[in-house]
Amino acid sequence: TKQTGFTTLDYGFVNTSATRSSITYIDGDKGILRYRGYPIDQIAENSTYLETAWLLIYGELPTPTELAEFDDRIRHHTLLHEDLKSFFDALPHDAHPMSVLSAGISALSTYYQDSLDPRNPEHVEISTIRLLAKLPVMAAYAHKKSLGQAFLYPDNSLSFIDNFLRLNFGTMAEPYVINPVLSKALERLLILHEDHEQNASTSTVRLVGSTEANMFASISAGINALYGPLHGGANEAVLTMLAQIRDSGEGVEKFVERVKNKEAGVRLMGFGHRVYKNYDPRAKLVKEAADEVLAALGVQDDLLDIAKELEAIALADEYFISRRLYPNVDFYTGVIYKAMGFPTRMFTVLFAIGRLPGWIAHWREMQTDPATKIGRPQQLYLGSPEREFPAR
Ligand code: SDX
Repeated sequence: TKQTGFTTLDYGFVNTSATRSSITYIDGDKGILRYRGYPIDQIAENSTYLETAWLLIYGELPTPTELAEFDDRIRHHTLLHEDLKSFFDALPHDAHPMSVLSAGISALSTYYQDSLDPRNPEHVEISTIRLLAKLPVMAAYAHKKSLGQAFLYPDNSLSFIDNFLRLNFGTMAEPYVINPVLSKALERLLILHEDHEQNASTSTVRLVGSTEANMFASISAGINALYGPLHGGANEAVLTMLAQIRDSGEGVEKFVERVKNKEAGVRLMGFGHRVYKNYDPRAKLVKEAADEVLAALGVQDDLLDIAKELEAIALADEYFISRRLYPNVDFYTGVIYKAMGFPTRMFTVLFAIGRLPGWIAHWREMQTDPATKIGRPQQLYLGSPEREFPAR
């Protein structure tokens, strides 16, 4: 008997407790992904992270005025409360940035306790702006902390993406030089991650939000769900896998054999998907960008060659074909992030920044849907029948 997602097919009933949403459409068999009806490749090619965030959250593309005002409001909320700096002081320098981020977002909410009511539209708006503005800054501070470098203050004269890049790669010692290749590549990668229907972390945000927990609490929970190596953590795990193949000298074929033999803990990370049983349309776009970005940055990385060799072997191997395992969005992203200069531990943080607009959009959609009830997944009881407790 097989359970797929929330629909239980073989126990004599079909539980159609599928989540209702108008935000993103995926056809896993055809490899289709659309944000509010727009195909992902057209958005990635033509839009920006903030314009796409608006589309996901409000349902339509913004007018130029709406986008300018949205961008301006976000710029003017990038500063973190000065007291929050001590939050970072309390953490070890090698704290994993995903832990820093999930804890940091909860800590951030303690500064806004008078404006967290999910039923107050103004509170929902300002929480949206604060999270979009401050989460990337917290992420950059986690990165700087790991480097032992001073935090920079946001520079409102820069675009959203360049401000984020400067906070990560700029230093107090010299002016930050904008690299348009980096900006464009990161913008496209973040757009490709902005939403993906009812994935594990988005479902977590919706489940937590369904209890009327505030937006910050729900997003913090989503960050923790994303952290796992089977979900967003896979982009970090892919780089570790590629480096192990290279450094062990075992070769790609030997590694693939170990995957097929299901050796403990050996999986082809970045491959397979709960929904896509075809090539993840995002993976195709990322793979195209990988060659382009590395060439433009003048970076040669043998891990990209290993990734391509792995893909070629897997896509021709009955084991993967029969299980409909294809590269997913995480397979090539890490190679690009590495070429940009991000440490491996920041990769899932970049996924979180990408996914933030989708999490917010789903949280808001759920709050305004009159059909929303508190989440309570059904259970099939498989335990012991009633029995007498031994007399004492
Ligand atoms: C993301 O849901 C989303 O939309 C997520 C995401 C998003 O944008 O939010 O797209 C982002 O999380 C992408 C997925 C990133 N994770 C990984 O790359 C980790 C490696 N992949 C897997 O662990 C796995 O493919 C999952 C978790 C992604 C999907 O798991 P499924 O669909 O439940 O597959 P399964 O575990 O039931 O496996 C089916 C078969 C099994 O073999 P058999 O038992 O039938 O012999 O396929 C095998 C599995 O062993 N298999 C793999 C494999 N993935 C599945 N074998 C080797 N390598 C893999 N990666």
